[in-house]
Amino acid sequence: MDTMILNPREQSQVNEAGALLRKGELVAIPTETVYGLAADALNPAAVKRIYEAKGRPADNPLIVHVLSLEEAAPLVQVIPETARKLAASFWPGPLTMILPKSLKIPAETSGGLSTVALRVPSHPVARAVIEAAGRPLAAPSANLSGRPSPTSFRHVYEDMNGRVAAIVDGGDCSVGVESTVITLATDPPRLLRPGGITVEQLREVLGRVEVDHAVLEKLEDGVKAASPGMKYKHYSPKAEIYVSELSFQEYRELLLQNPSAGALCFDGEEEGFRDRAVCYGEIYRGKTQARRLFSALHELDEKGLNPVYARAPQKHGVGLAVYNRLIRAAGFKILRPQVEIIGLTGPTGAGKSTVAQVLAGLGSAVIDCDLVTKDKKTYDAACIRQLQKAFGSDILIKNELDRKILAERAFLSPENTARLNEITLPVITGRISQIIEEHKKSGCRYIVLDAPTLFEAGAEKLCSRILVVTAERSLRMERIMKRDGISGEAAERRMAAQYSHEFYVNRSDFVIDTSDGAHITEKVQAFLSFIKL
Ligand code: TXA
Ligand code: MG
Repeated sequence: MDTMILNPREQSQVNEAGALLRKGELVAIPTETVYGLAADALNPAAVKRIYEAKGRPADNPLIVHVLSLEEAAPLVQVIPETARKLAASFWPGPLTMILPKSLKIPAETSGGLSTVALRVPSHPVARAVIEAAGRPLAAPSANLSGRPSPTSFRHVYEDMNGRVAAIVDGGDCSVGVESTVITLATDPPRLLRPGGITVEQLREVLGRVEVDHAVLEKLEDGVKAASPGMKYKHYSPKAEIYVSELSFQEYRELLLQNPSAGALCFDGEEEGFRDRAVCYGEIYRGKTQARRLFSALHELDEKGLNPVYARAPQKHGVGLAVYNRLIRAAGFKILRPQVEIIGLTGPTGAGKSTVAQVLAGLGSAVIDCDLVTKDKKTYDAACIRQLQKAFGSDILIKNELDRKILAERAFLSPENTARLNEITLPVITGRISQIIEEHKKSGCRYIVLDAPTLFEAGAEKLCSRILVVTAERSLRMERIMKRDGISGEAAERRMAAQYSHEFYVNRSDFVIDTSDGAHITEKVQAFLSFIKL
């Protein structure tokens, strides 16, 4: 088959796409999530062609794309209040809702199920093509079944040239992972596939939303999947991928010890293995990772890297969608640390010490990083020589570092502070690494770095998990005033000098809020079960 390439900036070519679809042909179209392989959703023969072109199992249902909630109404039995609320918040956009279908939807489209998946895309080209076709369009991702989803015209062309009547070239997709899929056919509603609309956003609108266990875990053979797509091998590049839940430091060592392995890492982490690394976005920024994940998987294939060690994203926000795709691309091969190194941090007055005590009570080794910083043994002779060079030889009195004079001089200017950090931080993290190794030898499962300045010190790189403790601002203020015997203004100043609540939460794997002052042990146990997942 000759595949036409259509330019959506020409209305006549959009009309051509519409005409092909009305005739029962296949047309690949851009959407804000990934490219879709579209066909007339109400024409069983056209829908069958989708399964042939993709090599897709016939029991894996398709998503039906329409222009509005009004257009969706005839395709389902009723539009429940939950659907109205979600549509008002997230349509048009990367959200798919599953509802009991009406007789209009052929069995081919719904994979034989009694429900149908519906989505109102926001991409102007997708909308123009639906408009031109004048009917609902069924569209799975426009890749060969099992391959990574296409997020650029080139990806679609590679998989679909010769298999479809036309491809509409709409550039790169902005979200980069397929839509969030939620079923409203169950009570409470359940997330079947995470995507650009996060479960946190869904809960804001609906209250309770369950997360299907297939989102994070491999389905055992023979178990019926709530969403048939979850059970198939997916997003597989040619390379063997392993998802690393190790600390960055352990990850880096792994790559240095395996000089032929490829790295799928975050921007700026590739030093030492640059020529065999593909970066897929900024650390802690699920949105940029989502946008780049699938093209990164394509790029790994082009480079022929094998095996590939991938850095794991966070499991919240859009990160959850990235993690869900990545573990499938890896066939659920996940590297977990033998000993979890937990970075415990958060704003002042949040209740870190209480959480540290609970963790210690549950058998973790706790390293007080402030004590390491204050400990004179931390600073070796070479470090002290450098400090003397930078801040004057009289900072050493009777062979002992005078921390008071050093602090006075170092905090005179931002440049001095930066110089102090440059000299001391590597020594401090080096010492912490040493203590970690000693604890590892003693056989404990969890090592906690109690570190108010975890990020300032770059010590998060030593951690496999970041646990943030937080509390409401007024409460934190009250606590520091009482704890340190200072005024409200002094407490305000101290809080203002620190990173914001969002800063910590964005970088966390898990957050414990101590505002209600209760159930700390339960919250810590919830964290420990979360990291065992
Ligand atoms: O972002 C997207 O959703 C893209 C673009 C093109 O819109 N489409 C897409 O379609 O990702 P597809 O076919 O690759 O994924 C559809 C997913 C599958 O996991 C399928 O099993 C699930 O939705 N699904 C569809 N209908 C369902 C239903 N009635 N019940 C449960 N799961 C359903
Ligand atoms: Mg797909």
